[in-house]
Amino acid sequence: MRGQPRPVYLNGEWCDTETARVSVFDRGYLFGDGVYEVIPAFAGRLFGLDEHMARLSRSLEAIGMAEPLGRDEWQAIFDRLLAGIDAPDAAIYLQVTRGAPAKRDHAWPGNDVPAGVMATVSPIGSIAGGARVITCPDARWARCDIKSINLLPNTMARQQAAEQGCDEAVLVRDGLVMEGAATNLFAVIGGRLVTAPTGPRLLAGITRGLLLDLVHREQLIEAEESFITVSALREADEVFLTSSTKDLWPVVEIDGEPVGSGAHAGRAGPITRRLDHHFQALKHPQRSSQ
Ligand SMILES: Cc1ncc(COP(=O)(O)O)c(C=O)c1O
Repeated sequence: MRGQPRPVYLNGEWCDTETARVSVFDRGYLFGDGVYEVIPAFAGRLFGLDEHMARLSRSLEAIGMAEPLGRDEWQAIFDRLLAGIDAPDAAIYLQVTRGAPAKRDHAWPGNDVPAGVMATVSPIGSIAGGARVITCPDARWARCDIKSINLLPNTMARQQAAEQGCDEAVLVRDGLVMEGAATNLFAVIGGRLVTAPTGPRLLAGITRGLLLDLVHREQLIEAEESFITVSALREADEVFLTSSTKDLWPVVEIDGEPVGSGAHAGRAGPITRRLDHHFQALKHPQRSSQ
């Protein structure tokens, strides 16, 4: 059930999702030794590209890897990927690993081993309804700011959510809310927008950053970057998740309890809807200026 083959760029060659093969010695495969990005394109236009490429550079630098390709080379790959998919909205997935040396060794290979570079594309589906989430302990490492392909704790948390019929797991460290397994989290508390500050304990989500910039620029609501406790999360008026493929995703239920109170209990709240409206205009500038 892999669907229609989609184009894949792999180590300088073009193939497709049916034929692409990596070496068993690829360090991404053996050690999770690599980083990745997911870059959305809406109506064929890449969104947040500079921010995603800057984060890729930060991730590579943090794991001691050189840039494998220049910006023009990446751009040519993205153009060909987007030309090869018949979907209005699509996500480019790219990953860079520390290559495939002949011998499995924890220590890094020399510079003579070329990086493993892969990029592909898939359609972004629309999301129906609000997110039901669970809270669970954050079992990840101490450098969650690196967009590493090591996602085992994230997958375990998301699976725990799925087994409870939920959409996302909210990761909690020392009683404080960090982020979702593959999303950042925002809460509306007392008329203020609150999200965890960036740092080693969470990923600096591009959607998170773009939304905060928009909120400040257009003075949409007072925003604060600070950690909240799980009990504050449960009491929040509104909660939503952000990611490149999900935009702003209202949270309607946390650990089986509805979010918010009154008429909006268990539904997307008015501030979330207003912020989403502004965010959609950012995504589709041509549409909103018509
Ligand atoms: C752990 C984690 N936090 C947050 C995000 C959201 O980041 P972005 O908005 O850049 O997609 C992701 C996206 O994959 C993620 O994996």
